[in-house]
Amino acid sequence: MKKVKKAVIPAAGFGTRFLPITKSVCKEMLPIVDKPTLLYIVEEAVASGIREILIVTGRNKKSIEDFFDYTPELDAVLEETKQREFLDLSKKMENMADIYFVRQKHPIGFADAVLYAKPFTGDEPFAVMLGDDIIYTEKGCRPGIRQLADAYEQTGKTTVAMMRVDDADVSKYANVKGHALSERLFAIEQIVEKPRVEDKFSNDAVIGRYVVDATIYDMIAQTPVSSKGEIYFTDSLGLLAREGNLLGYRFEGVRYDAGNKLDFLKANIEFALRDPALGEGLRAYLKELSGKIS
Ligand code: G1P
Repeated sequence: MKKVKKAVIPAAGFGTRFLPITKSVCKEMLPIVDKPTLLYIVEEAVASGIREILIVTGRNKKSIEDFFDYTPELDAVLEETKQREFLDLSKKMENMADIYFVRQKHPIGFADAVLYAKPFTGDEPFAVMLGDDIIYTEKGCRPGIRQLADAYEQTGKTTVAMMRVDDADVSKYANVKGHALSERLFAIEQIVEKPRVEDKFSNDAVIGRYVVDATIYDMIAQTPVSSKGEIYFTDSLGLLAREGNLLGYRFEGVRYDAGNKLDFLKANIEFALRDPALGEGLRAYLKELSGKIS
């Protein structure tokens, strides 16, 4: 079976939920502790053996390109002042992956962004990773997108990440109907984008990790435009489901929604608590704070 070697990260959105900061700082560069959210996604890909990454950007996203570029002025200062640790960090960002960029001319949605990847992926399968979804996995556990890539490489079928959600959250995600093939793998029969809770198939939501076959491009081409004037990627996946060619994988790990302010704050706190340099101090502060909160 073909190996998954490429990833596509749609990053053209305006980030309106984070206004006013997103007037001039793109949402992918907002930090979780000291790293931009986008770096968590790129690191997950690289840790999964995926080093060729296409980021689909738009206007106002120049800082993303700068971040992965080399920084001669900064590096010279770090070298001169013998700040070896920071210099290594700077070099690491520069060399961690082969990153390609393309601009989505009109940010008209996720499926359209994926179409821009065709010259990059050709006939190969590829990962699609949404920047708002951050997946934390413990040491020893495969990174999120690796779990899906393994399922794809074993079955040859497009595989999406699945997570259980409460009724209150059903309408935030694509929702699926399927049957279990094993503890974590599901055959998806139907999928619908953000249903009302009364119309849900199940409490299984799809989050922003997908490993897709190149047939996805034909599926997108065949997908009718929704009533909102957008082609939904989920509807294209639905065409695969109808043919019996869509799998769901209940991934192992903790997922944060970096596109939501409260979850973004929680992610910052939890990642900082796991950070050896910050954890102890923050834990003490939170304990002190909790005594003061009514
Ligand atoms: C997108 C997808 C949706 C998916 C979600 C996961 O929605 O369209 O199917 O469940 O990501 O985070 P968004 O949150 O970008 O509106």
